Amino acid sequence: MEDIKLDPHNYRIHGNENKKLISKSLLECGTGRSIVVDRENVIIAGNGVYEKAQELGIKVRVIESDGTELIAIKRTDISTEDEKRKLLALADNRTSDLSEFDFSAIAEDFEIKDLEDWSFDLEDFSFDGVKPDEGGVGSLQSRFIIPPFSIFNTTLGYWQDRKKEWLSLGIKSEEGRDKEITFNISSQPPRVYEARNAIRERTGVDPSWDELIDYCNKHDIPVMEGTSIFDPVLCEICYRWFNISKGKILDPFSGGSVRGIVAAMLGYNYTGVDLRDEQIKANYKNADEVLCRENGSYGTVEWFTGDSCNIDKIVDGCADMIFSCPPYADLEVYSDDPKDLSNMGYEDFLKAYRTIIRKSCDKLNEDRFAVFVVGDVRDKQGFYRNFVSNTIDAFQDAGLHLYNEIILVNMIGSLAMRAGKQFANSRKVGKQHQNVLVFYKGDPKKIKENYLELDFSEYDFTNQND
Ligand SMILES: C[S@@+](CC[C@H](N)C(=O)[O-])C[C@H]1O[C@@H](n2cnc3c(N)ncnc32)[C@H](O)[C@@H]1O
Repeated sequence: MEDIKLDPHNYRIHGNENKKLISKSLLECGTGRSIVVDRENVIIAGNGVYEKAQELGIKVRVIESDGTELIAIKRTDISTEDEKRKLLALADNRTSDLSEFDFSAIAEDFEIKDLEDWSFDLEDFSFDGVKPDEGGVGSLQSRFIIPPFSIFNTTLGYWQDRKKEWLSLGIKSEEGRDKEITFNISSQPPRVYEARNAIRERTGVDPSWDELIDYCNKHDIPVMEGTSIFDPVLCEICYRWFNISKGKILDPFSGGSVRGIVAAMLGYNYTGVDLRDEQIKANYKNADEVLCRENGSYGTVEWFTGDSCNIDKIVDGCADMIFSCPPYADLEVYSDDPKDLSNMGYEDFLKAYRTIIRKSCDKLNEDRFAVFVVGDVRDKQGFYRNFVSNTIDAFQDAGLHLYNEIILVNMIGSLAMRAGKQFANSRKVGKQHQNVLVFYKGDPKKIKENYLELDFSEYDFTNQND
């Protein structure tokens, strides 16, 4: 058999979802279209299919052609009426839909301006044809995990694949947030929380989860399904880009276990503070499970229960990076505790929020970054509170400088169902993004000497200690 080789510079990215479908199609429908190789047997088209066919042990027949005839593959086992024919037609189209272009690989080989004839949307090359540095370490994506631009698009296949890999390690960030209503209705919008209080006032006891859902359904109050989990890929990127090697991370609103576990697995030391003791206990439990199961030399991870307004008294020592995702005012209510920022009116919220930011920044070493993931929220009238600017003000008043602003594009999820009615009634557009604000303390000229040169092109994701 000829020695066929994969194209090392393939313009397609085949994510896990895409590869799974190719295998499914090969198994259920048999082989479809041919692949194309050049004279040296390097694949021109069909890298994904060849890879999967190899794994499944499917043999390859080579038919030589000088490109002047079209080769039709006649499937003698399928007739026009067969169910399998329909399935193969569907699979053939669907598998090519699900792969994406590696735009930076294309930009390395072509002048972007010439690609319009090939029906490319030039916007996709938002990096304007920038090619990797002369060092030739591969595309920007493989060098920096994702291209270092001001949009983090979490909806793309490679982001989602990486997220699945992280979560498959067993991170269960939502564990400390009770689904049952004991003393908090975690991750639910304020109206659900108000509904719980209304029932409690009427009956004198907390409703069961089912009773509450029933009440909300009757009163047209939307209940969020499942709880949000902080994105581990976002953690990974922020730590790797904005922390020094083995640097200490301080997180004044730690929430779930994700930020701590990802930090430890990447060799950083993490200290998180959160008001809710049940969350902290769940975080330790999850960290024990995940970090013990995996072998390797991890950084340390510790969580403290407490009000971060006193973070100066709760946490000893200094930090090399601040990384957190605060409550977005009362968008999600975390507990009944009056010290919980999500329970406060916006003015009190801002006062406490600014104190926590100032005290955390006092703990940050000179020449270091702080990263806050935030999203603006609307007041009761529907106007934006300008929470993103309020966050920027708080950091600037604490002596830091705004260094990068990144838009985090979220999966659309249930937004698609809500946005139509909302827009029609009020002209409010559905919010599909959050803001990743990156601040810097000190002299920016020191960044080059303090922060490692990054290159993840040889990095093996399965070995987190690389
Ligand atoms: C936005 S959440 C973090 C959610 C994040 N997306 C996650 O799951 O990792 C903010 C956290 O701030 C905590 N919090 C609220 N007020 C606090 C305070 N005064 N001190 C410390 N933590 C507080 C809440 O308990 C909640 O877990």
